[in-house]
Amino acid sequence: MRLVLLGPPGAGKGTQAAAISQRLAIPHISTGDMFRAAIREGTPLGRRAEAYLKEGGLVPDEVTVGLVQERLEQPDCRAGFLLDGFPRTVAQAEALDAWLAGRGEKLDAVIDIEVPRDDLLERLTGRRVCPRCGATYHVRYNPPAAAGKCDACGGELIQRADDTEETVSKRLDVYTRQTSPLIAYYRQRGLLREIDGSQAIPAVTLAVGQALGRDWQ
Ligand code: AP5
Ligand code: MG
Ligand code: ZN
Repeated sequence: MRLVLLGPPGAGKGTQAAAISQRLAIPHISTGDMFRAAIREGTPLGRRAEAYLKEGGLVPDEVTVGLVQERLEQPDCRAGFLLDGFPRTVAQAEALDAWLAGRGEKLDAVIDIEVPRDDLLERLTGRRVCPRCGATYHVRYNPPAAAGKCDACGGELIQRADDTEETVSKRLDVYTRQTSPLIAYYRQRGLLREIDGSQAIPAVTLAVGQALGRDWQ
């Protein structure tokens, strides 16, 4: 399946992507994770992207589109993929459509995870991530077994640099202005599947499965 996960910062895209990609055996492609890895490694891409992530703005479309196309050309994406955090602008969505059309392919569905804005700030400020393996936790809603330590790999959990109150509110505004028009874009194309993301994490996963015609009980 070729899927896109849409939703505001903190909606649970990364959390659900981990579960969905495992169940469908397709790669989880997160542009945010790719940028953060490039920044950590100090690559030219990382140096270019760093200021945008820090401020909560979007990396320019031509940089992001090139990065994603290169990733989608890898052999593990031939049977499908799950995009998380891309596309984020109408121009990115059009570039993805054109790229897929050029290969005689198309998206199967766009899963839009909706969460009230008031909940997003609490989710993001309470988020903890494992820089070693990428696992995501929440101090209240999804705590690790031992505080500050990753269940999966034992790594030290950290807070993302853009999860401060100030940057979160900037990211939410950027989402409303630049990304939320994609809801209408995909609805028009009959691809949109709206999911209530305010439920508990396992309930959201079940709802995603249902929207894709699968029983993940
Ligand atoms: P990115 O990394 O994509 O960040 P984002 O879209 O802001 O989304 P988040 O990762 O913050 O949230 P999420 O929806 O994944 O939620 P999560 O599952 O972690 O992008 C970062 C930056 O990179 C951008 O600002 C931009 O600069 C750049 N960038 C990336 N893509 C780009 C693009 N295409 N174009 C240009 N620039 C781009 O969950 C959040 C928290 O809530 C966690 O603590 C989790 O445990 C908890 N939680 C999850 N689900 C639930 C639930 N159901 N109930 C309670 N708690 C929950
Ligand atoms: Mg994420
Ligand atoms: Zn870990």
